Amino acid sequence: MIQEQKRYKEPLKSPENDLLALVSQYCSWGDTVHYAEKLNIFSAAEGSYLYDRNGVEYLDLQMWYSAVNFGYKNQRLNDALKKQLDTLPQLACQYLHEEKILLAAKLARGIEKTFKTKGRIHFNVGGSAAIEDSLKIVRNHTNKNLVFAFMGGYHGRTLGASAITSSYRYREKFGHFSDRAVFIPYPYCFRCPYDKSREDCGLYCLKQFERLFETEYYSVVNHKTGNCECGAFYIEAVQGTGGYIIPPREYFSGLKEILNRYNILLVDDEIQMAFFRTGKFWAIEHFNVVPDIIVFGKALTNGLNPISGMWAKEKLISPSVFPPGSTHSTFSSNSLGTAVGLETMRLIEESDFVKQVPGKGKYFVARLRQLQKKYPQIGDVDGLGLAIRVEICQKDGFTPNKQLTDAIAAIGLSGNLSAGGKKRGLVLDVGGYYKNVFTLAPSFYITEEEMDLAVDLFEEALQKGLSVA
Ligand SMILES: Cc1ncc(COP(=O)(O)O)c(C=O)c1O
Repeated sequence: MIQEQKRYKEPLKSPENDLLALVSQYCSWGDTVHYAEKLNIFSAAEGSYLYDRNGVEYLDLQMWYSAVNFGYKNQRLNDALKKQLDTLPQLACQYLHEEKILLAAKLARGIEKTFKTKGRIHFNVGGSAAIEDSLKIVRNHTNKNLVFAFMGGYHGRTLGASAITSSYRYREKFGHFSDRAVFIPYPYCFRCPYDKSREDCGLYCLKQFERLFETEYYSVVNHKTGNCECGAFYIEAVQGTGGYIIPPREYFSGLKEILNRYNILLVDDEIQMAFFRTGKFWAIEHFNVVPDIIVFGKALTNGLNPISGMWAKEKLISPSVFPPGSTHSTFSSNSLGTAVGLETMRLIEESDFVKQVPGKGKYFVARLRQLQKKYPQIGDVDGLGLAIRVEICQKDGFTPNKQLTDAIAAIGLSGNLSAGGKKRGLVLDVGGYYKNVFTLAPSFYITEEEMDLAVDLFEEALQKGLSVA
C-alpha cells in the first residue's frame, strides 16, 4: 500500500463532476463503462489496489479481467517497460527486434516442451485481433468458413470474433459480417443444459455432441466424403466471461477424440486464462489434450503495452502455407509490449506460480465456502487456481439473482465499505449466463490477509445488498 501523502502530492485539478459532465457529452457510451450507474474515476493503482481521486482504497478482485496477474505497478515489469522506452521505444513491426524474437521463441519452446509439438507464434495487439488471425489460419488450412463454438463462450467483439461469441446481444445491431458459429452447450455442471447431475451423467453433453455426427440429417457432416462443415472448434478451457466455469476433467479429451475423427481443429482461446491464472501456464494443461491453435493476450504484458498473439502447429502456420502478408496490424509486436512480455516470461520462469497460485486459490475458495454456509444466496463457489467463481442466487441457492449481484457490485464500487477499519471499496466483475456470477481474478501476489479482507468486504457488501435487493 502506498502512503496517501505520496500519491496525492498534486492537488486534483478537475472537479469530479466536471469530468463526468465531459464523459456524458464527449465519450462514446458504446464501451462497457456505462454498464454501471455510478461511474468511478480512478487515479492510482498498486499491488491489489485501485485508488480513487479521494484516496479511497479499492481491493481489486478482478485485476482488469485477468490482464494484471502480477499486480498493479509491478516494479520489475514496469522497469522493463521504462528500459525499453529509453532504448527502442518504437519500431515498425515489419522490422525485427531482439525482444520480439526471444519472446516468440520462449512461448513456442514452452509449448513444444509442454505439448511435444512444434509451432510458431504470430503477434497482434488485442485479443479479438488475435482471434481474427486464428480464424484466417483455420480457413486457410481447412477451406471452411464455419466453426463450432460454445454457448456461453466469449471470443471478443470485432466482427469475426462476435460471430463466434454466443451472445446475440453483441451482434444484434450489426448484422452478419462473418459466418456465425454453430454453438454447442458447454459442460456447465452447476446448471447442466440437459438437467443431468454430474455424479451419474456419464458426460451426456459430450454424447449429445457426438450424436450430431450420426447422420447427415443432423446437418454437420457428409458421411460420403467424411467431411464436417465446421473446420474448427473454438473453446475456452475454463469459460471466462461465461462465469469462470470449470468443466469436468475428462471432457476435453473426449471432445478431441470426436474432433480428430473428422479433422476438426481445436482452437484454444487462452486470452483470459493463460499465464497461470488457473495454476498452470495454459488452462488447457489441466485437461490432457493438445490444441492445434492457442490464442493468448491480456496478462502477457500485465496490462502494459498490449500484445496478443497465437501459436499454431507448424503445418498450419509454416511459411509455405501462411506466407508474408497473410495478416498484419501496425501495432502488433510493438517493442514496448514485447519487452514487457519477455520480462513476464522470465518472471514466470523464476517464480513458483505452479504451487503458489493453486495454494492461494484453495485458501480463497475455502474462505468463500465458509461464507456460503452462512448465506444460501451464494449458490456455488468453485475455483481452478486463482480463477474463482461465486454464483449469486435466490434463497433456494439455485435461481439466478442478478439484482442482488448488481447490488453487491455497485456497493463494492461505491467505496463506502468499512471492513478492516477504514473506508474502502471492492472491485468485482460480473459474468455468467444470467449475469449473476462474480468472476474473481485476484493478483497472484494477493496475501492471506488480503483474501481475509476480501471475504469481509464481500460479506459486508452482501449484507447491504440483501437489505436493498
Ligand atoms: C476468452 C477471451 N477471448 C477473447 C477476448 C477478447 O479480447 P480483447 O478484449 O483483448 O479483444 C476476451 C476478453 O475478455 C476473452 O476473455
